[in-house]
Amino acid sequence: MRVRVLGSSAGGGLPQWNCGCEYCVRARQADPDVPSRHQPSVAVSADGERWSVINGSPDIRSQFQAFAGLHPRPGTRDIPLDTVLVTNADIDHTLGLLVLRESLPYRIVSTPWIRDALLEHNVVFRVLEPAWGVIKLDDALPLDRDGALEARLFPVPGKVPYWLDGQTEVQNSPEATLGVRITDTRTGARLVYAPGSKTLDPGTMAELEAADCAFVDGTFYTNLELQDSRPGAVDSVTMGHVPISGEHGSLARLAKLRARCLYIHINNTNPILDRSSAEASAVRAAGVEIAEDGMEFDV
Ligand code: MLT
Ligand code: MN
Ligand code: ZN
Repeated sequence: MRVRVLGSSAGGGLPQWNCGCEYCVRARQADPDVPSRHQPSVAVSADGERWSVINGSPDIRSQFQAFAGLHPRPGTRDIPLDTVLVTNADIDHTLGLLVLRESLPYRIVSTPWIRDALLEHNVVFRVLEPAWGVIKLDDALPLDRDGALEARLFPVPGKVPYWLDGQTEVQNSPEATLGVRITDTRTGARLVYAPGSKTLDPGTMAELEAADCAFVDGTFYTNLELQDSRPGAVDSVTMGHVPISGEHGSLARLAKLRARCLYIHINNTNPILDRSSAEASAVRAAGVEIAEDGMEFDV
């Protein structure tokens, strides 16, 4: 299967519109060590002709513009988009769905929890209702017309989106925060996409161990990183993201896997955004990659 990184940052992107931190400033200056990044999303395809996308990032318009594989055929309004899979109801994974509202020749697919969170609490998302299908955890979803790619959703430890705070009738659920496993039924190759996970629990580890390639939550390098720029901010795990470094961090565990592993959903506070940083070197030295926009490869 073919994989294309449409966006590699966390919510806000790099540079983030209101941020003057070192990485945002260097990205604005086009520093070659700090490339700009769209908000998180990847595209997958069995044949390089027809694509499915994981999550609808707020940057989807420019992400599609930057990727010829998702342009409409000249003279038509036919775009080679099959499915948009949604892994949680966070704004950085869903706002772009509204940008694609002009016509709905593709499907949106999530668990019922995610669809209901958006459609019941945000009336504007109801314009997408005709296209929005639901599947249960671990149900097989063919991602292209030939059935060459099959997606399954699995639960990862996460949190309810912040915009649902105060909605006391909303309970967290195994359906609220997901990883995706995509299997190429022709070759058996497995891709896992898990951009938001507060711990690498046994279920998530089993998915990563069986994968050939995995995109993993790279939001924060350290657990308290956000407090440097936002005093009083919560720690990484409370925000729903396992940090990269430290005894309970993800790097030590990913380093032992046979899969090609890439960090994605990288927050604009994370020093791995700077290719020349000691932290980026430590990640590379452990055999883990740092996803960048525009990367494209076969799994
Ligand atoms: C997250 O990844 O934790 C969310 O995107 C945070 C947010 O909604 O700002
Ligand atoms: Mn996010
Ligand atoms: Zn910044």
